[in-house]
Amino acid sequence: MPDPAATHRLRDLRTTDADWVFAACQDAEIQRWTLVPRPYLRTHAESFVADGAGDHRVWVVERIADMRAVGVISVHSMTDGVADIGYWIAPWGRREGAGTTAVTMVRDEVASWSDVRSAIARIASTNVASQSTVRRAGFTVDSSCAGGSCPDGDQQVDAVTFRYVFG
Ligand SMILES: CC(C)(COP(=O)(O)OP(=O)(O)OC[C@H]1O[C@@H](n2cnc3c(N)ncnc32)[C@H](O)[C@@H]1OP(=O)(O)O)[C@@H](O)C(=O)NCCC(=O)NCCS
Repeated sequence: MPDPAATHRLRDLRTTDADWVFAACQDAEIQRWTLVPRPYLRTHAESFVADGAGDHRVWVVERIADMRAVGVISVHSMTDGVADIGYWIAPWGRREGAGTTAVTMVRDEVASWSDVRSAIARIASTNVASQSTVRRAGFTVDSSCAGGSCPDGDQQVDAVTFRYVFG
């Protein structure tokens, strides 16, 4: 049953998503904080909508009011009961709760999958917006997972692992 108060929803990726994905991935913030190719070409978007770039599961984040696609959220991998998630929201969809809503919905979705014990997001120590987003979705820092790095533009910086434990 859809939540009548929800502002955003998730849907499957379609081949017709290539246009807006291509436009969104020109954004400096998406290029700074994620592993999208740089420069981001039209062929990258076409390949992504065709096969999800190897991710385990990919959804489009859609604003309910106007059915406009505003972002992408993925389960990159499922290993030993841990769902590793990643996401970006396009410039035209930011600061209206899309990121928080998407992370919360994927958190609840993977909780229903068999043998999943927790969800994690690995976030650059310098990415304040993304850290606020997962905190709002109930994730907390897992200090036992220190180590690793994430992109911050052309640099690699320390990664912080945020985790949500089910059950
Ligand atoms: C991080 C990102 C997903 C946030 O999406 P969003 O839809 O704007 O987030 P929300 O509206 O749900 O806001 C969530 C929290 O982030 C904060 N936030 C959002 N953008 C921010 C910014 N530019 N600076 C500081 N805080 C920010 C919000 O204030 C809110 O926190 P609060 O409750 O403490 O106020 C989006 O900015 C983005 O896609 N950035 C580029 C790609 C990226 O960083 N992906 C994640 C890689 S780990």
